[in-house]
Amino acid sequence: MEKIIDEKKQGESLLLQKKEGNTRKLFIESYGCQMNFSDSEIVASILSKEGFNTTSKLEEADLVLVNTCSIRDKAEQTVRKRLTEYNAVKKINPKMKIGVLGCMAERLKEKFLEEEKIVDMVVGPDAYKDLPNLLTEIDEGRNAVNVVLSKDETYADVSPVRLNSNGVTALVSITRGCDNMCTFCVVPFTRGRERSRDPQSIVEEVNDLWNKGYKEVTLLGQNVDSYLWYGGGLKKDFSKASDIQKATAVNFSQLLDLCAKAQPKMRIRFSTSNPQDLTLDVVEVMAKYSNICNHIHLPVQSGSDRILKLMNRQHTREEYFTLIDNIKALIPECAISQDMIAGFPTETEEDHQDTLSLMEYVKYDFGYMFAYSERPGTMAGRKMDDDIPAEIKQRRLSEIIALQRKHSFYRTQSHLGKIEEVLIEKTSKKSDAHWAGRNSANTMVVFPKKHYKIGDFVNVKINDCTSATLIGEALDYSNNNK
Ligand code: SAH
Ligand code: F3S
Repeated sequence: MEKIIDEKKQGESLLLQKKEGNTRKLFIESYGCQMNFSDSEIVASILSKEGFNTTSKLEEADLVLVNTCSIRDKAEQTVRKRLTEYNAVKKINPKMKIGVLGCMAERLKEKFLEEEKIVDMVVGPDAYKDLPNLLTEIDEGRNAVNVVLSKDETYADVSPVRLNSNGVTALVSITRGCDNMCTFCVVPFTRGRERSRDPQSIVEEVNDLWNKGYKEVTLLGQNVDSYLWYGGGLKKDFSKASDIQKATAVNFSQLLDLCAKAQPKMRIRFSTSNPQDLTLDVVEVMAKYSNICNHIHLPVQSGSDRILKLMNRQHTREEYFTLIDNIKALIPECAISQDMIAGFPTETEEDHQDTLSLMEYVKYDFGYMFAYSERPGTMAGRKMDDDIPAEIKQRRLSEIIALQRKHSFYRTQSHLGKIEEVLIEKTSKKSDAHWAGRNSANTMVVFPKKHYKIGDFVNVKINDCTSATLIGEALDYSNNNK
């Protein structure tokens, strides 16, 4: 995976959850997207009722769970390598049980137990409520597998245990699964059909987080803009819904409005938006509330109409430009970020140039860029030859990354001299004397600590920048009591 700018936590163990009376020790770590990190918090909550506290020490764990990612081959290889490391520890502590969660569990199912002999348990993303039963199975010496996908499970009734938390920012999942069937993507197969979570439970979670001192939430879904609640179940059945259900249905812009209104001082972010589903009423709600951050993650994947079509992305390059223009007309300072895939099957040099020229038009604030990785079972995997040689994919990817770096620098420079509100999240990685936090546009800002503390909103004058980070100075009239 190639990425720049964000500080995505990869394979980080989730720490510190202690409940009185719990005696068993759970080591849980997550790979891949934010949704996996959020799911691990649900898993920890379910297991807390089964007598588990989390530990950060692999050697002392009774149960090791790894929440896995299948999005690219490399992500799967990383997990397999990690399993060999668990194996070394299991040799010293043979009672330790090992479970695989998430997308690889769903993709490989029982095969996992054959391929990786050290694994005791395989659990797909919709089966976490079955963990207590599966644990009984493995405690009694049998292997356990549950990879059943659901049409309505949203874990709305599970209150996540916040793990490895800075106490300031939290993830709140609002939809599960994806119905889009982009031809390169394994997610619809590993996470199943798209379903939305009850808005009331979402707002309650946001309120609860605020009451516990959190200052920012990110509403999470593979495709947040297609959020639709009318009483549960699949979105495609909405046409059969009753008149009352239709009249009281809640879409994403309404959900965003509900959350922003419920906690006017809580910062709200959301991810991910698929361009084909992002409607301007969402951008209007963003413009209406100062607590909704001015940033849209709007992956386009390619700038070529021909490739977009082969990817089954339901928009053209021109439609994407119109969407960008409309967003900027409503919120001129709105940051936009991308995901891009280099070397999709049949991609020509001309297609690649289209990607570069699309980037030139948008000048994204930041992005995540990848070489195409064929995924078994997907439409592209089944029907198309992975025909772009690795070195060409890599060269195109490098060109995309270099251009993004240039644009990121162009964007960070545009913040110079401005005063921006930053929410302090942690100590800067590079200096103990500096705080790090993000501005509304989702750019990292570092500045001298002074008397401020984690969780403060601070007005920072931006004096300097790199392509990834803004460097500034807190102004003394900053409002900490938000
Ligand atoms: N739901 C999001 C993306 C989920 S996957 C959306 O609407 O786009 C995150 C990113 O991984 C994708 O945006 C894509 O850029 C990348 N990705 C997915 N499948 C891939 C594959 N087979 N090869 C390379 N990159 C891939
Ligand atoms: Fe994947 Fe496309 Fe959904 S990238 S997660 S199928 S929107």
